[in-house]
Amino acid sequence: MNLAFIPGDGIGKDVTAEARRVLDAVASAFGLAVCVDTLPWSADHYLATGVTIPPDGYAMLRDQFDAVFVGALGDPRVPDNRHARDILLGARFELDLYVNYRPVRCLDDRLVPLKGKSRRDVDLVVFRENTEGLYVNIGGRFKAGTEDEIAVQEEVNTWKGVHRIIRHAFEFAQATGRLRVCMADKSNALTHGHALWQRVFREVSADYPLIEARHLFVDALAMFMIRDPAQFDVIVTNNLFGDIVTDIGAELQGGLGMAASANLHPGRTSLFEPVHGSAPPLAGKNVANPFGACLSLALLLETLGHAGPARAIESAVESCIAARGCTADVGGHLGTREATDMLIAQIQSTT
Ligand code: IPM
Ligand code: MG
Repeated sequence: MNLAFIPGDGIGKDVTAEARRVLDAVASAFGLAVCVDTLPWSADHYLATGVTIPPDGYAMLRDQFDAVFVGALGDPRVPDNRHARDILLGARFELDLYVNYRPVRCLDDRLVPLKGKSRRDVDLVVFRENTEGLYVNIGGRFKAGTEDEIAVQEEVNTWKGVHRIIRHAFEFAQATGRLRVCMADKSNALTHGHALWQRVFREVSADYPLIEARHLFVDALAMFMIRDPAQFDVIVTNNLFGDIVTDIGAELQGGLGMAASANLHPGRTSLFEPVHGSAPPLAGKNVANPFGACLSLALLLETLGHAGPARAIESAVESCIAARGCTADVGGHLGTREATDMLIAQIQSTT
């Protein structure tokens, strides 16, 4: 398989280097032929060259690679975040990666932050619409910089966009034996755009009579995710709400360092990244948690049809966490590299 690795900025570089070592370990344990190209697109590259992503960059990702792995993007030296928008959001749009798949699974009771709850209570998935909503960046500013300034930011909801993500959520539920799909919107206040979500959800759910279709306003969803996350199997929502509730989800798994994500267009080149950001103050200090990146690598391998190596990584992460062979954010005392060493040793001892 041909993979593009984009380490990006800050701790993105640290965790991508570790994911790379884990990839090599599973490739040799499972006999996978892997070819990796590392692409330099990042804040450093932008500041040095003025280029965020080259003009043929999206076509290159689409045509030359089976999947793309991204570390993290974001750097205070690029205050408008232009490079992150072009590289990450740009790839989501240009490769039409309409499914943002974020599993929320806690691997150890110790990591559950809720009183009286265990890991059994935290096992759900969020499907975030990834190509429209408030992220389309349509709008403008009038009289900017004055006290009369007007800023308009439009939310786009199309039948096609809403339909395909809701359909995907139900198909996933059916294929994985999850019995409940919850759609979250804010149709009590956003009466045009989210009325479309209501209509499509009603229509699509009718095709899946064995799956419980539930609707929540997103504010109630946020509350119930904290009160009792066990009531959720599959959550489907729009781009912005999905961004927000997956940070709640990350916290339920032990924090941003543990959360993995996939940006998918089924059957096409897709992009995988840990949910955490670039955390510039932590960069290069051997403290970042590599497990979110390694679990994202597992999603990549699984998506490309390599379920064995994917499971091996996931169970090795679980064993490391259980033995506190991990970084400080999840209760261990190891550095980024040492936690990965332990992960790799675990993979090698079980394959
Ligand atoms: C995420 C991030 C991005 C997003 C940022 C970096 C633009 O928060 O992937 O969740 O909002 O989608
Ligand atoms: Mg986010």
